[in-house]
Amino acid sequence: MCEDDWRGGVSQRISTFDDLRDAITAYRLPRVLNAALELNLCTAVGTKTWTIPVLAHEMKVSERGLAILCRNLAMAGLLKKKGETYRNSRLGATALNAAHPAYRGDYLRLMTSHWADWGRLLESVQSGLPLGHDEPDAPDYRRRFTWAMHHRTLETAPQIAAQLDLRGARTLLDLGGGPGTYAMAFLAKNPQLRATVCDRPAALDVAKEIAATHKAGARLSYLPLDLLTDTIPGTYDVIWYSNVLHIYSPHDNRAVFQQALAALNPGGRLLIQDAFLHDREGLFPEEASLFAVSMLLFTERGNTYSPTRPSPRPPNRYCPSR
Ligand SMILES: C[S@@+](CC[C@H](N)C(=O)[O-])C[C@H]1O[C@@H](n2cnc3c(N)ncnc32)[C@H](O)[C@@H]1O
Repeated sequence: MCEDDWRGGVSQRISTFDDLRDAITAYRLPRVLNAALELNLCTAVGTKTWTIPVLAHEMKVSERGLAILCRNLAMAGLLKKKGETYRNSRLGATALNAAHPAYRGDYLRLMTSHWADWGRLLESVQSGLPLGHDEPDAPDYRRRFTWAMHHRTLETAPQIAAQLDLRGARTLLDLGGGPGTYAMAFLAKNPQLRATVCDRPAALDVAKEIAATHKAGARLSYLPLDLLTDTIPGTYDVIWYSNVLHIYSPHDNRAVFQQALAALNPGGRLLIQDAFLHDREGLFPEEASLFAVSMLLFTERGNTYSPTRPSPRPPNRYCPSR
């Protein structure tokens, strides 16, 4: 398989000055979207149709600024424009609207906060260290981050559960499972299965709240544990290690693998999901390369990795916790 196949057409190599300009100015639409999120614009729009002067007055921003922002949001599809009026798109009225039950506020705030963090990339490149404003064990931070992980995974987890054949498994450990969104999806798909989600206590509090809203949540149990230092109690048919590998060094992960393998029943499976690099030089897919930059900004030893053998085909689209 040639390298181009792994690139999946995600991006062009930069070879001309125009390529470079286009790549650098790609920040413009993301900045427009971030500004809208920072203003809680979709919440302000809600279910009504607005003219710019009335909405600007309501939001206490300039008419000129709002007119140009809204025009660009309509161009991008987040708002609907008709004549001189604007209303929310379906996405804007639900996931981006704090008054709607489907609002994904914690994930939106995580994404918007990354704008300023990525602006400080040079600091981490120079020091080799994370920005250091997040304390992984602080309960408030952990709670918000865990909800963000749930919002991020809502659609993906059932898709993954549909692809994995767990019919022979009775017990599953979701190692570093955070909100338990994957564990819940596996339980919903496999009525014979019982699952345990293991993580920091504040993350498990969120997992309990989420599980309480699902029938299959009765088959989920909770294991507070530091996966780097504690021994995994009990044994399991399946251990699911999803989106944790990239937080740690190869040395750390080897220790986790040893622990996990020792906690498998005979014939059991350790399943790993992460942002893997798949080409010979370890450059692609683009998402996995860029995700390593997040790990530089936010973790002490994290990175993205290549599997030991190149995979036979490109992976499914992967969306880690950007
Ligand atoms: C990026 S989230 C992934 C959550 C979930 N597995 C998923 O795929 O959506 C990483 C999770 O690993 C947990 N984690 C990282 N290091 C840990 C440690 N040393 N002990 C326990 N949990 C840890 C975090 O608390 C967090 O919930």
